[in-house]
Amino acid sequence: MSTAETDAQIINADMPDVPPQAPSKINLKDYKKPSFDVETVDLNIKLFEEFAQVDSTLKMVRQTAGDIVLFGEALELISISVNGEILTAEHYQQDDDKLTISNAPDEVVLEIQVRICPQTNTALEGLYMAGSGDDTMFVTQCEPEGFRKITFYPDRPDVLAIFTTRLEADKRYPTLLANGNLVEFGELVNAPDRHYAIWHDPTNKPSYLFACVVADLDVLTDSYTTSEGRDVKLEVYAKSADIDKCDVGMQALKDAMEWDEVNYGRPYDLDRYMIVAVSQFNMGAMENKGLNIFNTACVLSSPETTTDSRSFSVKAIIAHEYFHNWTGNRITCRDWFQLCLKEGFTVYRDQSFSADQQSRAVQRIDDVATLRAHQFAEDAGPLAHPVRPESFVEINNFYTTTVYEKGAEIVRMIANTLGPDDFRKGTDEYFRRYDGQAVTVEDFLSALSITDSKIENFIDWYRQPGTPVVSGHQSYDRAAQTLTITLSQQTRHVSGFSAPKPLPIPVATALFDQDSGDIIAERMLLLDQATQSFTFENVSSEPVVSLLRDFSAPVQLNYDYQDEDLAFLLKHETNGFNRWQVTQMLVNRILLQGQGSKSSPQVYLSALAQTLPELAAEDAMLAARLLDIPSAQELASAIHKDYDPALVKAQREGLYQLVADTLKDQWAVLYKQLPMQSYKDSPEARGTRALRNVVLDMALTAKIEDAAVWAQQQYDNASCMTERFGALKVMVNHQVASADAYLADFYERFNSNDLVIDLWFSVQASADTVTADTIESLIAHTDFDWNTPNRVRSVISAFTSQPTALWTAEGLSLYTGVIKKLDDANPVLASRLLQVLARWNTLAESHRQMAHDQLLELQKQVSSKHVLESLNSVLGA
Ligand code: PHE
Ligand code: ZN
Repeated sequence: MSTAETDAQIINADMPDVPPQAPSKINLKDYKKPSFDVETVDLNIKLFEEFAQVDSTLKMVRQTAGDIVLFGEALELISISVNGEILTAEHYQQDDDKLTISNAPDEVVLEIQVRICPQTNTALEGLYMAGSGDDTMFVTQCEPEGFRKITFYPDRPDVLAIFTTRLEADKRYPTLLANGNLVEFGELVNAPDRHYAIWHDPTNKPSYLFACVVADLDVLTDSYTTSEGRDVKLEVYAKSADIDKCDVGMQALKDAMEWDEVNYGRPYDLDRYMIVAVSQFNMGAMENKGLNIFNTACVLSSPETTTDSRSFSVKAIIAHEYFHNWTGNRITCRDWFQLCLKEGFTVYRDQSFSADQQSRAVQRIDDVATLRAHQFAEDAGPLAHPVRPESFVEINNFYTTTVYEKGAEIVRMIANTLGPDDFRKGTDEYFRRYDGQAVTVEDFLSALSITDSKIENFIDWYRQPGTPVVSGHQSYDRAAQTLTITLSQQTRHVSGFSAPKPLPIPVATALFDQDSGDIIAERMLLLDQATQSFTFENVSSEPVVSLLRDFSAPVQLNYDYQDEDLAFLLKHETNGFNRWQVTQMLVNRILLQGQGSKSSPQVYLSALAQTLPELAAEDAMLAARLLDIPSAQELASAIHKDYDPALVKAQREGLYQLVADTLKDQWAVLYKQLPMQSYKDSPEARGTRALRNVVLDMALTAKIEDAAVWAQQQYDNASCMTERFGALKVMVNHQVASADAYLADFYERFNSNDLVIDLWFSVQASADTVTADTIESLIAHTDFDWNTPNRVRSVISAFTSQPTALWTAEGLSLYTGVIKKLDDANPVLASRLLQVLARWNTLAESHRQMAHDQLLELQKQVSSKHVLESLNSVLGA
């Protein structure tokens, strides 16, 4: 018998005789206030070669009757005392993840000592060591429940405290950072190779916003003076090789700081704002108070190594984390069910910021495309949940596109319903009332409704899962000169939830005169019944109606348009987003023929042919977007039964080919009109690069003889990564003869830069020709690394963009094998990868059975509650 078994038996001997239980569910309705508040926390974190010791002192004060409940996971408890008296095991109760002290006095000073092992923490939650060999650093990730892996603590967002942090480490790690202000920095008298720093954060914060970093990093510094006259020191920390890629992020930070003052009246509140770049990170970035920690992919940017679109998201994510300082940190969530309170609002804020930095239309196109591709799919499948869920097993599973992106759409609907002035009054009121508190979605809505009580009705959007479908038609009465639009809404009934109610749906509408193409009326229709009619007066001839302009609500629109109406709108709509939206409606009608639509491509093709030349000269970025054909995954999300990946791929490629062939003559003209120039970071230059890459792909698709040479020249003469990677991608996807040589060149050029090598992996893993074998060989490459989520995603997530390869026995067995492999080491990552398989049950029967068998097999092999909860939902259990 092994020692492990002996230990298990000893432990079991003391336990009541109950069968192992399914992980327990936490319910919103069971929320209770904590019995104790924490006033101050003093942390002393000492890092050693093989472990860390964490000493903490908590001053706690009773709020209501009840026990002191401290959460703790994977901690070795060395000692615990209350008001100076050491507690022995009979004074407290300890189970897997909690330590409970009963009958505590009303004022308590708790002193706790624990040991942890950051060196073996592969889950990347709590305090962990990133990097390897000589190149290591220590960082934390506490949201949502990582602080309990650092020490015992009432680790819940409604417990706010003042933190003082002492860090002590070997001098190999010169950078010692924690939240707030640096109070002291010095050497240890008795250990000359060690040093320490003490940081004090004057703001009350929940433990999920705690952070510290112990590393050897360079720093880029700058400053910003707030409207209140506070001089803020800005610092971006990165490895010395990366410090030259930090200025895009720094500029974005300054822009975001100013933007939040101008648009929301919110200045920054500390003397220092730090950002640290880390190569091993599960998510994009984290808004820890005054000390943001970023995935390197979301902060580093330079023209030579970063594509324009990646660079844009770097700016957006910097802004997002900065905006959290008010929406998330100063006002935080009462419990994790309220996650959308900070995330939905903050995404809305970063989207608005980005819209002010580039073309509004393109920003909206990209946000809506993401929403439709991912959130609509989530809402249509077994993982559908309300923007504010009502129960969970593992909160990490709810950092979803529904909480984030649909959450942002709700705030947008409210903002548009109120108009800018009243929305600002509402947000001012929100900050005035709740600054320093942990609040709920209801609190948010009550502040926003001070000028209009109808806003409270938006609460149902937070409670009800599923994407509403809005259908409608119009009737024109020539005699009365009226146009009546009748709209109705329907939301699928998601099992486990009450029957869906009608939601308030703002439908931005304009009427266009058929002859002149001018707008004759504009109105925001509020559809808040199951069916409703809206009448426009004094309409002298039957107009063309444009609905859901700017995507005024996150719904699926089914209006009885003629294809010709859509072509008309493509020509006459005044807003670029609406023009894109009609092209997408046309494309969807063509591609989803089997799903009840019946459009021929002719109208679409001739409308494109007419629009493109002029638009390419006027707004190249928008022109590039108008050629969008939804991805295979997005199309799949609209198919609810008998999904055949091969058929969707064939239809999609067929249409792409048709566009390429029909407009064949334009590609050469356009490619020449978009010459390569020395690098510039202007909207025009970015638009030119985007369109040139699309045109190149079209030209290769249309088999234009010179196109392969254009691609090679573009690669060879590239002034930036957008050009170089764009060329590489088309060469790989079109299997140009020299593609392998270019892949090899790309690797040689950039093999010291992990983020670029991620691109190298992903272009191969997402290639049109990819198979499970390709993925196997990429995983076997010496640069593949299971411990770096970015690298895993560059291969495994990239692979999911090819459903025909994924949904095969080999593809799926490889994919589920990856989940099994990561289940224990990094359950957050494993579970997120698994969620992508949610729509297996829409597959045609042969595939469906195979997928079901493999998922059931996986279920036997995994044990993390993260993966088990997702798997149960995915299987519809
Ligand atoms: N709160 C982070 C954000 O959206 C995301 C995050 C969640 C990061 C959980 C790490 C862990 O800004
Ligand atoms: Zn966020």
